[in-house]
Amino acid sequence: MYQYDEYDEVLVRERVSEFRDQVARRLSGDLSEEEFLPLRLQNGLYNQKHAYMLRVAIPYGVLSSAQLRMLAHIARRYDRGYGHFTTRQNIQYNWIKLEEAPDILQELATVQMHAIQTSGNCVRNITTEQFAGVAADEILDPRPLAEILRQWSTLNPEFAFLPRKFKIALSASKEDRAAVRMHDVGVYMHLNAAGQKVLRVFAGGGLGRTPILSSQIRDDLPWQHLLSYVEAILRVYNRYGRRDNKYKARIKILVKALGVDAFAAEVEQEWLHLKDGPSTLTEDEYERVAHFFRQERYEQVDAHDPTFERQLADNKRFAQWVKRNVREHKVPGYASVTLSTKPGAGVPPGDVTAEQMEHIAAWADEFGLGEIRIAHEQNVILPDVRLRDLHALWYRAVAQNLATPNLGLLTDIIACPGGDYCSLANARSLPIAESIARRFDDLDFLCDLGELSLNISGCINACGHHHMGNIGVLGVDKDGEEWYQVTIGGAQGNESALGKVIGPSFRAEEMPGVIERLVETYCQVRVEGEAFIDTLARVGAEPFKANVYHHAV
Ligand code: HEM
Ligand code: SF4
Repeated sequence: MYQYDEYDEVLVRERVSEFRDQVARRLSGDLSEEEFLPLRLQNGLYNQKHAYMLRVAIPYGVLSSAQLRMLAHIARRYDRGYGHFTTRQNIQYNWIKLEEAPDILQELATVQMHAIQTSGNCVRNITTEQFAGVAADEILDPRPLAEILRQWSTLNPEFAFLPRKFKIALSASKEDRAAVRMHDVGVYMHLNAAGQKVLRVFAGGGLGRTPILSSQIRDDLPWQHLLSYVEAILRVYNRYGRRDNKYKARIKILVKALGVDAFAAEVEQEWLHLKDGPSTLTEDEYERVAHFFRQERYEQVDAHDPTFERQLADNKRFAQWVKRNVREHKVPGYASVTLSTKPGAGVPPGDVTAEQMEHIAAWADEFGLGEIRIAHEQNVILPDVRLRDLHALWYRAVAQNLATPNLGLLTDIIACPGGDYCSLANARSLPIAESIARRFDDLDFLCDLGELSLNISGCINACGHHHMGNIGVLGVDKDGEEWYQVTIGGAQGNESALGKVIGPSFRAEEMPGVIERLVETYCQVRVEGEAFIDTLARVGAEPFKANVYHHAV
C-alpha cells in the first residue's frame, strides 16, 4: 500500500501539534466555540448529540493491518470499544472527549492516518471500489489514480474553500461497485474501440435534499488527463458554484442550472489551459505510485485446491458463506472475502468492535497479505486470501460474528447512525435496521429472495444512501414524531437509479410489516430467477403500493 514520504509525515505531524494548541485554547476559553468550530471541522471533529464525533480518513478504503490495529486501539482507549465504518469508506468514533482528540490524532499519525479533509468544503476522501487491484474485471488498478488524486487534493490551497464539500469516486472495472454516479465527480475507466484506456467523466451527482445522478460530460478522455480534467471541473465549480445558499451550493445544482452541455463546454474551455501541462500523468508516474500498492508476495498456487473443495462439499454452511461472501480473485488460488458487519439484530450496520478489528488485522496477516478494505456498504474485506485458508478463516470469523452469509441480501443493510447519535437526524435509523433484521432472520429465505438492497437514512442528508437502495427508508419528522418514508427502485452499479416514494410515510413499528409486504409482492409476481429490481421494472410500482397500503391502514 501507499507509504507516506517525508513531506506527508511532516505535514501530518505539524497539523497535530497545531490542533493540540487550538484545543488547549478552546479548553482554556481563549477561543470561543464559534472561533473553534472551523478549526475542529478541519480536523474531522464534529459536535454531535452526546459527544464529539471524529471522522478518520481511510483513503479509497485501503488499510494495513497495523492501521486497523491502531483503529482498534483508538476505539478501546478513547471511545466505547467500537468504531463505525461509513458509506464513504471512512471510520467514525462517536464518543470522543475534546481534550483527548489531539492525542488520538497523534497516535493515528504514527501509522500514517489522519482526519484532514474529512469535513469542510473541500475535496473529501477519494473513494473507489473495495476490490480494487484484485478484481477480475478490472481495466486498470484504480488505487494509484486515487492516490494521485489524494495527494493533489490534500491541502490544495486552490480547493480548500469550495462552495460546498466535494466527493470524487473512481471505478476502473467493468462493473461499478463504487456508486460512482452519486458523486460530485465520477470517473469510469473503460477500453475504447481502439483498445485504449480512456475515461468517461460524470459530474453533478449527489444524494441529499435534491438527489441527482451525475451526467456524462466527457468520454474517450485518455487516462493521462485524469488530474487536469478533474482540476478543470473543480475550477469551474469554484468559480460559478453558489456560495449564497448552502442548499444550492453543490455542483449538482450548478450543472442543472447551466445545463449539462454548457457546463461541459465551460470545463473544456478551462481544460485547454491545463491540458498537457505539468499535471498530465505519465506511465512512469502511474508505475511509481503503483509500486507502493503492488503485492509481490502472492504465492504460486494452483487455481484449484483439493482440500478446499472437499471442505466445500462437506460443510453446507461453509459452502453457503463461500457462495455469498467470497469472490473470485485475479490471482489463481486466491479469493477476496467480505466480512459482513451486519450479523442481524443487535449490531448496527458498520459497527465493528475493537476486538473484532484486532482479529481482522490478525487474519489479514495470517491468511492474506496484511491488507484490509472498507466497502461503501460498510463491510470489511480481506482482499487476498489463499483458497486453502478459507475454511480456517471462516471458522474464526464465525466465532467473531463476522461470517453472516448475507452479502447483497436484504439484511446487508446500509444505515447511517441516525437519531441515536446524529444531531441532524429527523428519526432514528438503527432501530429500524434492527427491527427489519429481526423480522428477516431466516437465511434460507433471504437467499431465496436473492439480491435486494435496503438502505436507511435518518434524514434528508442521505448518509445512508437511501435513494440508491432497491428499498430505501428515510426518517422524517411529522409534528415532532419520527416517521419513515419508503422509496423503491433505487439501484447502484452500472444501472444506477434513484428510488421513488411509494406514498405516505409510516410509523417505526409498521416498518418491518411494510418491508414484508414489499417482499411478499415480489415473491408473488416474480418470474424464476428475476431480481427484485427487475420485477419492479417489469410490473411497475402499483402492485407493491397496493399491497403495502392495503395492509398498512
Ligand atoms: C453523525 C455524523 C454525520 C453528520 C453530522 C453528517 C452530515 C451530513 C450532511 C450535513 C450531509 C448533507 C450534505 C449535502 O448534501 O451537501 C451529509 C451527506 C452525506 N453523508 Fe453524512 N453525516 C454524518 C455521518 C455520516 C455517516 C455515518 C455516513 C455514512 C454512513 C455519511 C455519509 C454521507 C453521504 C454518503 C452523504 C451523501 C450526500 C452527498 O454527497 O450527496 N455521513 N452528511
Ligand atoms: S442522514 Fe442525516 S441522520 Fe443520518 S447521519 Fe446523515 S445527517 Fe445524520
